Amino acid sequence: MRRLGSLSVFVLFFVTGTAACGGDDPAPSAGPSDAEGEVDEEDGALPKCELAVSKGPWVVAVDGTTAKVRWESCRSGGGALTFAPEAGGASTRQGSAVSQAIVTTNNEVPFRRTGDWAGTYFMHEVALKDLAPSTCYAYALEQDTTAKGRFCTARPSGESFTFATIGDTNPGLGDLTVLQDTIYGKKPELTVHMGDIQYYSSGLESYGTWMELMRPMLRGAAFFPAIGNHEFEKPLEREEYVERFWGNPGFDGNSDYYRLQWGGVWFFALNTEIEMGDGSPQMKWFAEKLDDATKKPGYRFAVVYFHRPFVTCGDTDQKDALRKLYQPLFTKYAVKLVVAGHVHGYERFEFDDVTWLTSGGGGAKLSKMDANVSRPECVDRKASGAFWNATLITVKPGEIAGVTYDAKGALRDSFTRVVP
Ligand SMILES: [Fe+2]
Repeated sequence: MRRLGSLSVFVLFFVTGTAACGGDDPAPSAGPSDAEGEVDEEDGALPKCELAVSKGPWVVAVDGTTAKVRWESCRSGGGALTFAPEAGGASTRQGSAVSQAIVTTNNEVPFRRTGDWAGTYFMHEVALKDLAPSTCYAYALEQDTTAKGRFCTARPSGESFTFATIGDTNPGLGDLTVLQDTIYGKKPELTVHMGDIQYYSSGLESYGTWMELMRPMLRGAAFFPAIGNHEFEKPLEREEYVERFWGNPGFDGNSDYYRLQWGGVWFFALNTEIEMGDGSPQMKWFAEKLDDATKKPGYRFAVVYFHRPFVTCGDTDQKDALRKLYQPLFTKYAVKLVVAGHVHGYERFEFDDVTWLTSGGGGAKLSKMDANVSRPECVDRKASGAFWNATLITVKPGEIAGVTYDAKGALRDSFTRVVP
């Protein structure tokens, strides 16, 4: 048994047979748009979720041949999905491993009838393996065939690919419909998220509402989040929600920091909410794994992303000491892109041959992006603005290029830089 705070997670069983649900389960419901979580106004009792698929699906931990598809169900019993290459090919069915999670906290959301409620939930994970590299797959869940998505496997070094950056996603406040349609309509192969994944504090969303509003992102590409300060805003939120949904999303690390590889580009997610200074386990891990990555065949360059910015002209502090500490590693090992969130808007700095983005415009209350424009680094800020945004970044041989869109789908910035 794995114990996370007061959250108990029990791995119950594997399902590889033909039955998707336990024999005593009712027939699948119409889907996640049911009235999950609505408080019974007659007696005020806590709501009872009966959805076959109550949150998700989403995909984490993708490399060239493996991927993990996750979702939450309110029903006991097994689950399964079918998947096939988008370009055509045989469909394959695979059962899920199911973990029972007992959630002890209620997170009610003012002005919303859908909160996150204490109770027993069933987390499903399908660990796919022996996939083909450089291949995009479509999948659908057997418990609810309207719950479907896509993901792509990682590419070998040298191949071109596109990924998305977004941070501070608060879709209960800022409407991200057009932004997500714009970004995911262009089919990026992975999303890196700068943290502050969901905002209870905005008073406008729960994880239940967030999961519905962020479906295009979650279902459009593999998801690799960093941890932000809003992952801790409610008691046991990290244990009962964040860890349950996003635990161990990458490789060679843990839920706080990890790495992944795509097309010879190595991505490193760091956690600015825990110790990352000189001598910290996190910095030691980063230095060791970055050095190791550069020795891998086909290493091109690295992308590092995290929540609180090392540099910003917006209305928050910047991490001068951390930037000074990490810069030598970035220089030595060819880190060519650094992405942060936390500041709710957009910034692009160019320092020598390294691009630094602030990609924190996922719907949260916009920041004052020029509040500290007198900082000396701000002369190297090439683009900025207080608008909701996400960026698509395409890596090609010898080049990295970014295009940033706002919430109306308008192009707001673009850049092209030379990379190894
Ligand atoms: Fe933040």
